[in-house]
Amino acid sequence: MCGIVGAVAQRDVQGILLEGLHRLEYRGYDSAGMAILTPNGTVQRQREVGKVSALADLIEASPIKGHSGIAHTRWATHGRPSVLNAHPHMSGDRLAVVHNGIIENFQPLREELANEGYDFTSETDTEVVAHLIERCYRQTGDFVAAVKKALTQIHGAYALAVMHADEPGRLVVTREGSPLVIGVGIGENFIASDQLALLSVTDRFIFLEEGDVAEITQDEIRIWDRDDTLVERPVSRYEHGVDAVDKGEYRHFMLKEIHEQPRVIKATLEGRLTDSRVLEQALGTDAGALLENVRHVQIVACGTSYHAGMVARYWIEELAGIPCSVEVASEYRYRKHVVQPDTLFLTISQSGETADTLAALRMAKKDGFLAALAICNVPGSSLVRESDLVVMTQAGPEIGVASTKAFTTQLIALMLFTVALARHHGLPAELEADIVRELRMLPGKVQDVLSLDGSIETMARHFVEKSHSLFLGRGSLYPVAMEGALKLKEISYIHAEAYPAGELKHGPLALVDSEMPVITVAPNNELLDKLKSNLQEVRARGGELFVFTDQHASLHEEEGVHVMSLPEVHNLLAPILYTVPLQLLSYHVAVLKGTDVDQPRNLAKSVTVE
Ligand code: F6R
Repeated sequence: MCGIVGAVAQRDVQGILLEGLHRLEYRGYDSAGMAILTPNGTVQRQREVGKVSALADLIEASPIKGHSGIAHTRWATHGRPSVLNAHPHMSGDRLAVVHNGIIENFQPLREELANEGYDFTSETDTEVVAHLIERCYRQTGDFVAAVKKALTQIHGAYALAVMHADEPGRLVVTREGSPLVIGVGIGENFIASDQLALLSVTDRFIFLEEGDVAEITQDEIRIWDRDDTLVERPVSRYEHGVDAVDKGEYRHFMLKEIHEQPRVIKATLEGRLTDSRVLEQALGTDAGALLENVRHVQIVACGTSYHAGMVARYWIEELAGIPCSVEVASEYRYRKHVVQPDTLFLTISQSGETADTLAALRMAKKDGFLAALAICNVPGSSLVRESDLVVMTQAGPEIGVASTKAFTTQLIALMLFTVALARHHGLPAELEADIVRELRMLPGKVQDVLSLDGSIETMARHFVEKSHSLFLGRGSLYPVAMEGALKLKEISYIHAEAYPAGELKHGPLALVDSEMPVITVAPNNELLDKLKSNLQEVRARGGELFVFTDQHASLHEEEGVHVMSLPEVHNLLAPILYTVPLQLLSYHVAVLKGTDVDQPRNLAKSVTVE
């Protein structure tokens, strides 16, 4: 949510900040702003409601010169999207702050500061931080000390970047519960909430730890940890290549990311398989001893990542014979739960910064779990740093708000984990070899599904005028139906619900008429016959069916039944392959409806607030 970027350089920073905001826009896009310290010693601020391009127009009309500045793209939490609520927020005309996250105790602080005469012009919690730091600056006369002192008075989750007209060429930044990286340049340094924002200016990054405070100048980066000790943090290089964040030949990031799946699935498998086995070391050098002891798996995640966890439950129970529970993080973290002995805590997250998932992990670490394993796509993210074991997906940056390649690579990582676990719990070597062979063939099969793009686009036309839809699946394809429904609703705004097909007659069948398209994922597996009777129930009520299946399933086109045949695939891997046409379907429906595919309304890519 929200994006922060900042720079201290020998050149004008306006272009760097604007480019950074464009790259961060996927995180929040209801308003944007920047503040730059001009050569005559004043802070100049520009803010605008809407997308970053609206701010860019404003800045093009009246450019701001200056060598240090901070900028922000917002996803509203406190206060509606408006110019007054847009960041940066200022105290007087000297101090400017940008903020990601939430200040929980902002209300009493606001009253206190207002009583002292500080002027509030917005509804945000951030403005409190600006005044608080300014008050501390007046008390201490030291910029870094002022920020540190202010931090002792605020509670919540935040990443902050602060500049002051009396402290030219310096930014002070901090993080607690919200990510912040420092981009290391030559004679210039940068900060951002996500390294992607800075890839046009550097590929070297320092990831701040929770509670760190840092002072950034052109030539120096000084970092203090939570205990106020001056510390060195490692500098790491970004390795994905800059083109990973360009749309290239594609109209939308989402389409590009869907089409990248054969390559990123291959990358996620790379170095983790022999001819017939999954390399256990892919989970970490000591993984073997740990997996041997696992008696239960608790999976916690949100949204699409939660759906990946739901698929994994079928795999873990089937292949390892180990009980597995799956829960959304926002529920898990707020209830009392019983931890079975020898339970592995498994989190799944594309960003590694999702507030609820992180909070659940932190809670789990005190709850006596055997260990915490994370499946994650962002190296250096909080989840990765705080887990005992990590399996990185190799999806590369995912910019489209609707998760696609992150999901399928999560499933690959989860399958690798499941096989490694199951080997310690009686998985026959022949079955493991079968799975490995099928995994190797999967990128090619996904490529074949992508070649159905044109037919799926034609199918999408049936949905443009619809307001509702139903997705059905059985077994491990039920979470795939849920994922398909989530994709359709989030980017095309068509109401979509997913049901295990067997539940149809227990209620949702009442919704079915000729206006209700029913989408089904129906590979040729042991549940197919049961699914076919569910589909008859839909047809009998005049419901129009859209069936993704394979040629051996003997489901045929007829009046009101649209059938799309996918390549044959091993039952265990069907959830991965059958996800892809549903992604394409929702993409094309959204394009036909003219919605903003990459940045759907009300959503943000990385949900770093509760
Ligand atoms: C939907 C989507 C979200 C995320 C969810 C968790 O397309 O992307 O549902 O899956 O916000 O995010 P991560 O995986 O970053 O923890």
